[in-house]
Amino acid sequence: MTRLFPADFLFGAATAAYQIEGAAFEDGRTASIWDHFARVPGAVIGADNGDVACDHYHRYRDDVALMRDLGLQSYRFSTSWSRVRPDGGEPNAKGIDFYSRLVDELREADILPWLTLHHWDMPQALEEKGGWTNRDTVDRFVEYALTMHDALGDRVNIWTTLNEPWCSSFLSYTAGAHAPGRQSVRDGLLASHHLMLAHGRVVEELRSRDASLQLGITLNLTMADPADPSDPADADAARRLDGQFNRWFLDPLTRQQYPADIIEDIRAVDGDALTEFEAAVQPGDLQIIGSPIDFLGVNYYHGELVSGHPDTRPVVGGDAPTDRAIRSPFPSNDGIFWHDRGLERTGMGWEVQPEGLTRLLLRVSADNPGLPLYVTENGAAYDDVVADGEINDVERTAFVRKHLAAVSDAIDQGADVRGFFYWSLLDNYEWAWGYEKRFGIVRVNYETQERTVKASGHEYARVIRTREVPA
Ligand code: NOJ
Repeated sequence: MTRLFPADFLFGAATAAYQIEGAAFEDGRTASIWDHFARVPGAVIGADNGDVACDHYHRYRDDVALMRDLGLQSYRFSTSWSRVRPDGGEPNAKGIDFYSRLVDELREADILPWLTLHHWDMPQALEEKGGWTNRDTVDRFVEYALTMHDALGDRVNIWTTLNEPWCSSFLSYTAGAHAPGRQSVRDGLLASHHLMLAHGRVVEELRSRDASLQLGITLNLTMADPADPSDPADADAARRLDGQFNRWFLDPLTRQQYPADIIEDIRAVDGDALTEFEAAVQPGDLQIIGSPIDFLGVNYYHGELVSGHPDTRPVVGGDAPTDRAIRSPFPSNDGIFWHDRGLERTGMGWEVQPEGLTRLLLRVSADNPGLPLYVTENGAAYDDVVADGEINDVERTAFVRKHLAAVSDAIDQGADVRGFFYWSLLDNYEWAWGYEKRFGIVRVNYETQERTVKASGHEYARVIRTREVPA
């Protein structure tokens, strides 16, 4: 069966500043929390860091030419706060100029620039003042957003405030798996609130400057399915996972409230942390967080099958096997057990579950009539093999087809999905996994910085050209 995408459906690819730019200390850029964290012994596999990465800072022209050859209609990238306002302080003309040149290059290639302001790389100097647990960081973020808008507002129309705030709060401040590597329930809760407040403040400020901008946020959402829906413990595990992962961010955004059931779950396990969180939520904050947005970005990689009972089978996949002890990102996940449903898995150990994406898009669309959705990330890492200079990544090619078909199914069933961005354009720095995991439709040889389009990249280009997906 062949699926045909609507003529105005937007196809693109995504990257993020720290993962590709390199030039970590050039032209006035100072350390971000990731520069710092990457140097903590045992935090990142192979002690890899983003000092050079894909050297995109120096090769952006070639990279844009590659995007044009692939026929990308849009490119989702992030800007580095530490480049634009080093240490979270004054604007840095050289850093800003890089993004200005990038945007000009994209526009000349007829590629729509899609800008994300926060893809996790907050200035380290701000972390030393409390980072996202400090409410002042919200004001610093607004200043940075306004600097970007001063520089690019005439040429960039689509702005995403945050990428995956679940990761930059709970995974980073509670689990300690990502920078800054803190491990505290309180800190994760405060970070999540301040991040969302920063989102809302920036939406309000940019909207008041220019009503024609398209403003939104990207969340990493999941489908939490109970192993046995008729088992109350399984159903409760799915409720909690959905609440801590999805509703914790969706509800304040779209309903101006935090989910009451999750608040009570957290109160039961860490009353002190919850009290501090409640004190941090000041009158008016939820109205700001819930300011209307023009689109919601959905990042989807896989769903989860959960239960109130342990799985007797061995656990597959999971977090990067670093030397540091990682704690659970969820404040109250006692009694949530992940089960294996025997699905195929990617090189990250993540289940390949395209139908979860269909259900997720239908659910979010049904819950939020009138809110356009974009899949702002979906993709897979595999152990690519280079043979005769070519990469015939059949698994990734199949993955992309299946997930595009899943998006098409969601559209057919009524979900308002307007576009799809493959993660990622290039192999890049996969955070705590370093350079070990490759998600690109374009291979990067890290020795020579040579780029080679993989078979999946050729297939994606064909889909964009014909708007047809065989699946
Ligand atoms: C989500 C993040 O936004 C991106 O930075 C990361 O590389 C991909 N997922 C793959 O894990």
